[in-house]
Amino acid sequence: MSQIATQRLGSSSEDIARAAGILRDGGLVALPTETVYGLGADAGNDRAVARIYEAKGRPSFNPLIIHLADLEAVKRFVIWSDAAQKVADAFWPGPLTMVLPLRPGAPVSKLVTAGMDTIAVRMPASPVARELLRAFGGPVAAPSANRSGRISPTRSEHVLETLDGRIEAVLDAGRCDVGLESTIIGLAPKPTLLRPGRIGTEALAQTLGQPVPERKNHEKISAPGQLSSHYAPNARVRLNAAEWLPGEARLGFKAAPGDCDLDLSPSGDLVEAAANLFEYLHRLDTGADAIAVMPVPHVGLGVAINDRLSRAAAPRD
Ligand code: TXA
Ligand code: MG
Repeated sequence: MSQIATQRLGSSSEDIARAAGILRDGGLVALPTETVYGLGADAGNDRAVARIYEAKGRPSFNPLIIHLADLEAVKRFVIWSDAAQKVADAFWPGPLTMVLPLRPGAPVSKLVTAGMDTIAVRMPASPVARELLRAFGGPVAAPSANRSGRISPTRSEHVLETLDGRIEAVLDAGRCDVGLESTIIGLAPKPTLLRPGRIGTEALAQTLGQPVPERKNHEKISAPGQLSSHYAPNARVRLNAAEWLPGEARLGFKAAPGDCDLDLSPSGDLVEAAANLFEYLHRLDTGADAIAVMPVPHVGLGVAINDRLSRAAAPRD
């Protein structure tokens, strides 16, 4: 991956406007929130979201949280409910994320939801984050701004330790108050604590007037087994296809012109392939018995692509 000059930005209005422009152009901006620094990209832009995974060196496509400035914006992406309203009234803006049913047709990359029919939404309280979200005017996907497997960053210096040269900019607003990732509550449909955080289950249960059981093995939410059924298309998936069999939908990678139905990346670009992955699987999953996929090189983002593909191809119950 080529090095990028990472701009160090402060929290002036000009700097925030510049950061919003970088997001609009498909760039990556690390932004301060009250929990941890997030690695932000335009959640509506497949390629920008794919670059998040590349910059983090994430070996799999975990679904990401989208960040929005206000409730009106949130409601464009989710199916709202009374329970969601109660939680929002009590805790937003703040260090809390809700997982809600994805609104059909919501303008968000399938790479954000990892192809699932729910989406994680958050309205952060940090003034700089809010100003950036308002200036940008759309959903910002943001996992913690660190290389995969490293500690979550609570200062812009931490971000630069692992991401300098891999992202377009970092917005500095000093230290994050909470220092721990947001609490995640699932409301699709029953209240479930998906990740503990500053806002505890008692407060959530009181707000909702019902218990909020902790999901057992919550760390497994993003682990292979747990999500495999959501990842799977209806068609069978056959990997490392060396030739096409009759009746198969054909998903290529750097294929000869005309030799497949859809090509993840005709030029062999893994960022492009990742950006197209969920979208193309979805498009090919209409009627064919099987989707055959050409081999994708097992390097860089290819590792995450192959992780996703092998889940889609795993034996079903
Ligand atoms: O405090 C935070 O939440 C930070 C800041 C930057 O906002 N972000 C963050 O994002 O921690 P990330 O990507 O590191 O964690 C997102 C978590 C993952 O554990 C993922 O599995 C879960 O949210 N998640 C996202 N979408 C989900 C969904 N539809 N269903 C269940 N879990 C979901
Ligand atoms: Mg993280």
